Amino acid sequence: MLHSLPLLPLLFTLFISFTHQHQHRDDPSIAATMEQFSGYTIHEPLPHSFQPTSLSVDAQALQNQIDELSAFSDSPAPSVTRVLYTDKDVLGRRYVKSQMELAGLSVREDAVGNIFGRWDGLEPEFAAVATGSHIDAIPYSGKYDGVVGVVGAIEAIRVLKRSGFKPRRPLEVISFTSEEPTRFGIGCLGSRLLAGSESLANALKTTMDIQNISFLDAARSAGYAKNVDDLSSVFLKKGTYSAFVELHIEQGPILEDEGISIGIVTAIAAPASLKVEFEGNGGHAGAVLMPNRNDAGLAASELALAVERHVLDSGSIDTVGTVGILELHPGAINSIPSKSHLEIDTRDIDEERRNQVVEKIHQSAIKITKTRGVKLSDFRVINQDPPALSDEAVIRAIETATRELNLTSKLMISRAYHDSLFMARLSPMGMIFIPCYKGYSHKPEEFASIQDMSNGVKVLALTLAKLSSH
Ligand code: GLV
Ligand code: MN
Ligand code: MN
Repeated sequence: MLHSLPLLPLLFTLFISFTHQHQHRDDPSIAATMEQFSGYTIHEPLPHSFQPTSLSVDAQALQNQIDELSAFSDSPAPSVTRVLYTDKDVLGRRYVKSQMELAGLSVREDAVGNIFGRWDGLEPEFAAVATGSHIDAIPYSGKYDGVVGVVGAIEAIRVLKRSGFKPRRPLEVISFTSEEPTRFGIGCLGSRLLAGSESLANALKTTMDIQNISFLDAARSAGYAKNVDDLSSVFLKKGTYSAFVELHIEQGPILEDEGISIGIVTAIAAPASLKVEFEGNGGHAGAVLMPNRNDAGLAASELALAVERHVLDSGSIDTVGTVGILELHPGAINSIPSKSHLEIDTRDIDEERRNQVVEKIHQSAIKITKTRGVKLSDFRVINQDPPALSDEAVIRAIETATRELNLTSKLMISRAYHDSLFMARLSPMGMIFIPCYKGYSHKPEEFASIQDMSNGVKVLALTLAKLSSH
């Protein structure tokens, strides 16, 4: 079940160090060699009439759209809760589709509700350049995570249209289904399927949510998966897109702390998630004496502490682990928990080290069954994904755009995962980060300023212009 690809961490590290060698990039002879080698034009000639500094973002409209979308929420403002295929998610989707149409994009949806808004280029048969993110929001989160990359992408299209730009390749804005794992326990559901995950397409035939509603019934209630049980229709062919770029808030404090406008992502860390269940004997909280207990709740607590220990033992600041869900059954103050359920998230930029943590968590769970006399009724690795590297040419296009717009930038890794992790399997990928207040995310205090969002949209627009012009 646990696999390892020992070469990847090395490549990852090499890539990160390579991407910090700024001086090479500006060397015209190296650029020429790279162009020859990759067959990919590094410095895109844009039409003479096209002036990067004259790109104009309607910042107020962008803010209004973010605010309007945040109203489709199942928790009170300023928090946002928008879970896959709920009524609020369906309303959010309707809002996104109407904004795409207002921007002149032709809209289509696939069987799981990935939404695509297309602007046909001068060469409509060419592979498109795509951009996008997600609008689903975990319980009690904020209004910017993902949303900036969807409404910001639609605004980037408007910016380009207002400027008179005509793309050679088609441009596509994608609003991905369920980047968040909230309802069915798997993150990047839509993009994972687009990238051709057979195992997910199969698993979704029988996947249920916590209320025993099947994925397919939930999708149907939202108007998707109508006459299909087979979700392989969602898969896209490699080569469908010539590039993919995602705009997102940083979700960390670095850009704000350093006063930098734009983060250019070089790589996305490797996430894994686990589901664990213990079963004990339960019983009366007063009558069962302490030596006679097999407390499934304490087994879960001990495992939660073991997760922290294994993560810290890695010795690297880049290894993280979280027990975000811990449920006890039957959940009564005077009843010893007879069952416990944990969901564990662990990540690292080093895949092999992350895999070792997963294995140690498994060993601890087995050990706890012996010391506490409980049963490990489930230990499932839900996903154990490798990291993704951004594409050199896409990074270069974003860097050039940032420079032409006179904005400061920094190369950085993404510790959060994004749909880009899976789009990188389909096409060259890059990400644009903007600062967010104190790095807050996945909580109601999440905030990005109008100025930072506008900068991000401008960089995205110019990057799309460059990537779509060859
Ligand atoms: C995405 O929301 C993540 O958890 O990184
Ligand atoms: Mn998120
Ligand atoms: Mn996100």
